[in-house]
Amino acid sequence: MSNKNSIAIVGASGMVGRKLLEVLEEIDLNIERLYLFASKNSAGDKLTFKDEEITILELTEENIKSRHIDFALFSAGGAVSLEYAPIFVRYGAVVIDNSSTWRMNSNIPLIVPEVNPQAVLAHSGIISNPNCSTIQCVLPLQVLKKYGLKSVSYTTYQAVSGSGMKGNADLIRTQKGESPTFYPYSIYNNILPQIDIFLDNGYTKEEMKMVEETRKILELEDLEISATCCRVPISNCHSVSMHIELEKPFKIEEIMEDMRNFPGIILLDNVSEKVYPLASIANNKNEVFIGRIRKDCSNPKKIQLFCVADNIRKGAATNTIQIAKLLIDSKTT
Ligand SMILES: NC(=O)c1ccc[n+]([C@@H]2O[C@H](COP(=O)([O-])OP(=O)(O)OC[C@H]3O[C@@H](n4cnc5c(N)ncnc54)[C@H](OP(=O)(O)O)[C@@H]3O)[C@@H](O)[C@H]2O)c1
Repeated sequence: MSNKNSIAIVGASGMVGRKLLEVLEEIDLNIERLYLFASKNSAGDKLTFKDEEITILELTEENIKSRHIDFALFSAGGAVSLEYAPIFVRYGAVVIDNSSTWRMNSNIPLIVPEVNPQAVLAHSGIISNPNCSTIQCVLPLQVLKKYGLKSVSYTTYQAVSGSGMKGNADLIRTQKGESPTFYPYSIYNNILPQIDIFLDNGYTKEEMKMVEETRKILELEDLEISATCCRVPISNCHSVSMHIELEKPFKIEEIMEDMRNFPGIILLDNVSEKVYPLASIANNKNEVFIGRIRKDCSNPKKIQLFCVADNIRKGAATNTIQIAKLLIDSKTT
């Protein structure tokens, strides 16, 4: 049997889809064939992978069933995932999905490879990639889990690239003084304390995604957790201020050492030299950057830290491809 893999990217022309192509050049999935799918608007357009031009196919069942596909990497929005992920599975593929469609389904693993790799094995065709802000936060939380996580509070500063092509276009448009067509207000020169729609409990959908997905990934159903998510006028990388209460006593130096040694985290924490995580540092990197770790000045059981990552890479494309690699490696070992 061939060990080579046939991969499809669904939503290849989008922000995440293009990054999937880029990261696939860096993380080797032993690819035999690569198929690109998008809507009929981009069908026929060409994208480059390893110096080879690949023509985008329209996403139709006809175009899926005539091809053998091992892994389908989805980044085309929730409606497309809902309709087409089961079709890919029916024709033999494993789907790794970037939309929120399946994330909270108890039969579908929600995976961050550094945190809960063991959960991937329970999949029955579809695996979910968590929300971008959640992915970067569960790495430091996994480090802190040994002290007992009592409560977590997130405040996010999320880049416009998190809204895909439309978010970037609105930043450029409003920078020129034109009216927004995507966000409810000008994102230029503003911070919008709204990401996605408001729910009945006064939180936004994005905030509740962070709450529920964190609990699922860490397998801490009763974790006290809350979030405020803001869109900020920067093009790429999400920053999150995290406020965490721990059950057991801790030393900041030990936590720093644990963060430094955890795979996927880069510790940038030396305030005397003004060393801390920045979007400009995390941009186009696969790691999660952690810094400003300090004891809460009003409660010695709590710590504060600042967490920055590239939302299109670790928050989407890189994590998706790391999940595929996890599956491939689990078959070969
Ligand atoms: N941006 C992020 O930080 C981020 C992070 C994590 C997860 N995600 C998720 O990833 C998904 C894509 O996000 P994005 O930021 O890449 O969005 P985007 O830039 O707007 O790209 C959307 C992609 O979906 C394709 N598409 C739309 N309707 C389709 C249809 N009916 N059939 C086939 N393809 C269709 C588009 O193709 P055309 O070009 O042909 O229209 C395009 O390739 C979303 O579910 C999003 O929530 C995004």
